[in-house]
Amino acid sequence: MMGHSDQDRVVIFDTTLRDGEQSPGATMSHAEKLEIAGLLDEMGVDIIEAGFPIASDGDFEAVRAIAAQAQTAVICGLARANLNDIDRCWEAVKNARRPRIHTFIGTSPLHRAIPNLNQDEMADRIHETVTHARNLCENVQWSPMDATRTEDDYLCRVVEIAIKAGATTINIPDTVGYTAPRESADLIRMLLEKVPGADEIIFATHCHNDLGMATANSLAAVEAGARQIECTINGLGERAGNTALEEVVMALKVRNDIMPYQTGIDTTKIMNISRRVATVSGFPVQFNKAIVGKNAFAHESGIHQDGMLKNAETFEIMRPEDVGLTETNLVMGKHSGRAALRSKLNDLGFELGDNQLKDVFVRFKALADQKKEVYDEDLIALMQDGTDAESDRLQLKALKVTCGMGLPKVAEMTMTIDGSEHQVEASGDGPVDAAFNAVKALFEHKARLQLYQVNAVTEGTDAQATVTVRLEEDGKIATGQSADVDTVVASTRAYINALNRLLIRRQKSGADRPEVSYKDVS
Ligand code: KIV
Ligand code: ZN
Repeated sequence: MMGHSDQDRVVIFDTTLRDGEQSPGATMSHAEKLEIAGLLDEMGVDIIEAGFPIASDGDFEAVRAIAAQAQTAVICGLARANLNDIDRCWEAVKNARRPRIHTFIGTSPLHRAIPNLNQDEMADRIHETVTHARNLCENVQWSPMDATRTEDDYLCRVVEIAIKAGATTINIPDTVGYTAPRESADLIRMLLEKVPGADEIIFATHCHNDLGMATANSLAAVEAGARQIECTINGLGERAGNTALEEVVMALKVRNDIMPYQTGIDTTKIMNISRRVATVSGFPVQFNKAIVGKNAFAHESGIHQDGMLKNAETFEIMRPEDVGLTETNLVMGKHSGRAALRSKLNDLGFELGDNQLKDVFVRFKALADQKKEVYDEDLIALMQDGTDAESDRLQLKALKVTCGMGLPKVAEMTMTIDGSEHQVEASGDGPVDAAFNAVKALFEHKARLQLYQVNAVTEGTDAQATVTVRLEEDGKIATGQSADVDTVVASTRAYINALNRLLIRRQKSGADRPEVSYKDVS
């Protein structure tokens, strides 16, 4: 069998927990970050960017805990171009088996203007900070933020400085998602040709998806010589997000004939981690998303279904099982037991501990009482229901809504707030409006509703509704989700779930350290 040279190996750098978590509304709890990091490590991700340690004590603790638990992956933290940030980052990652410091500064004219540094002053800062990072850690990544809008000569100059100062990986971010694939390739080629020492380090590509070209840009960069792809699960990330891990990995696998590069990813773990990230981030996956969308392997039209039955390859370029989607015929209902539920959930990619199974089983029984047949989609919705965590400050205890043609819409609600029970009656323009007004009456807040979205999980009038609610308060955004056969209950739960997440964000930003964003580079 022909072996593959190191030249063919593309390393996967996952930044779901840093760039992904940075996207408005996608905050994850400490436990959730640890869980996702464990799944990333297990699926063979080479480098996990676990967070931005200086951003908050919570971020620091999460990076430190992930560093301590990681088995195989390199654990990386992000730091701005100052010694303080880099020291804090090193503190967080230093106990990892394989730590990395990732430091960056915006090098384009627009970004140089923010800290008001001229080209020479910025070059000195890069030399100083990369040298400092390298003195702490032998694995250092440096990024010229907004590289794709930086002057070519200046980019070559600063990349050379970073390499000489000891950076072992140079990441070239398309921070604003402006580049087209040809330019992405040309930029890597130019750096490899012009920068002394470029052949000694690894070039990485980090693409945002503002024009929907992130995956194409990443692959073009690889064809030009980049050997690290930065990406996130489900393409989570600032604005339109980042390159999606599942897209680049599957593209390299399926089109290995024209892109002969290897990754170390176990693709059968993709579906499971995609679902978990959708749940914990509160960002549902769009139905027609490549690889992980609900419709990615669904065949609707008669011609397609007929073709599929004769030969799956007529309309499928990869097998569902390649990404961890299994088809099982076990239909669940109210007589199904705990073992069947566990086995079914395992098939769907969810591995549950005994306590979690106990909790899910209770909710499954409640659902099975309401619905004759519980389909795979129902169980996935149940697992993605982001409500009722024990630690939630606000919990819905009871809800009764009256509505109908010509009738007033009134919600009677009982909710616990920090453990004590409160009741109210409120009215509104419709049943959902009345329920939301009841929540507001019980828990006063200034959060504005930015998104309210209802989807039916399966067909039929007994289908569960999955509801997504996005709230904004003082520039902070939080998304909540819930699923129930009763649309008003699902809506109210999703609203309360978003409020609980907003409360966590409030608490985080009220911590001793101010929350920083990489845009405040100074
Ligand atoms: O998009 C970007 O430029 C970044 C940097 C911090 C690498 O996320
Ligand atoms: Zn980014």
